[in-house]
Amino acid sequence: MKAKEITSGVRWVGAEDWDWRLFDSLIPLPDGTSYNAYLVSGRDKTALLDTVDPSKLSVLEEHLRDVERVDYLISHHVEQDHAGSLPWALERYPQAVLLCSEPAKNMLINHLHISEARIRTVKDGETLSLGGKTLRFIYTPWVHWPETMSTFLEEDGILFSCDFFGSHVASSDIFVDGAEQVYEEAKRYYAEIMMPFRRIVRQDMDKIAGLGIRLIAPSHGPVHREPSSIIQAYRDWTDDKPHNTVVLPWVSMHGSTALMVGRLTEALAERGVTVYPFNMAVVDIGRLAMSLVDAATIIVGAPTVHVGPHPAVFYAVTLANVLRPKTRFASIIGSYGWAGRMVDIVKAGMPNLKVELLDPVICKGLPKEQDFLALDRLADAVAAKHAALGLK
Ligand code: FEO
Repeated sequence: MKAKEITSGVRWVGAEDWDWRLFDSLIPLPDGTSYNAYLVSGRDKTALLDTVDPSKLSVLEEHLRDVERVDYLISHHVEQDHAGSLPWALERYPQAVLLCSEPAKNMLINHLHISEARIRTVKDGETLSLGGKTLRFIYTPWVHWPETMSTFLEEDGILFSCDFFGSHVASSDIFVDGAEQVYEEAKRYYAEIMMPFRRIVRQDMDKIAGLGIRLIAPSHGPVHREPSSIIQAYRDWTDDKPHNTVVLPWVSMHGSTALMVGRLTEALAERGVTVYPFNMAVVDIGRLAMSLVDAATIIVGAPTVHVGPHPAVFYAVTLANVLRPKTRFASIIGSYGWAGRMVDIVKAGMPNLKVELLDPVICKGLPKEQDFLALDRLADAVAAKHAALGLK
């Protein structure tokens, strides 16, 4: 795609990556992604905000072919997909100064072997005039690394937010009007990398609240022309109130756990609780993570394998423990052949979740009527707990 104007003096010079499907060898990208770099030209100086993943360097080179002088390179975040082409940019523009947050300096030196002499750190709130274009640097840590900062272009009201408010989606449209157009991609991205820092993200949002933002230009996905809708979505995701939903990651080897999952899903639905069952044998981890953003309850369904839960389900336990959702309740269902310590092992696997454990339902072999009735009681307990929180 060609470079595109965002507003007068501000150009998108990034790259679309239509075919990338797995970020960090972990995060599924069903819609590809983009690496958004921006060129801001003032009367006197020019700044390049972030670069692109080195795999797309040739695209950035083409966008900048006619740009003879860049005075400042601004690194919002040291991860490769934004900073990975900085070494090239420093060579292409030998007079340019690399600006970053204080915590980013050593990370740039360590991760990219950038010379310390080229780096100048900026303070939180510091401003830089390019001549009629004033950049204000705002530290926004943990969206999603500790060094992350954003830049606010005061005259145009543009927040360059890097991963914050971003969405992994490759698109020929540079703008979206309303977050609903990229809601799922944005939520998926928030879930996978920012949810563990939910409370700090909330502080970051308070920090940008009074800026008078007219556009949000993240480093992945389209530019938001209606910033209030993506900000409102983030407020919902980061607040402390879960939704009336249950996430149910499960797997079955011989069908017993599958029968239990089926019964529990029905019973919860009958009680007005929305259930998201995820068969871990075929799961999209991104969808599981997304469902964890709002879930009031997580219930793990697993058969026993060598005394513990099936490893595929333990992956979901580990993921939930790492992502630290706002979940309030948990339980475990499943079957075993002759012995097992599944409940203890699952409990021990999620120490980060501050959840109340509801009575597990574990049966020997094929579930019997008493086991199905126990699952109905578990559904009763979940519905009552959700109702007590006022969840509808
Ligand atoms: Fe898009 Fe954390 O890099």
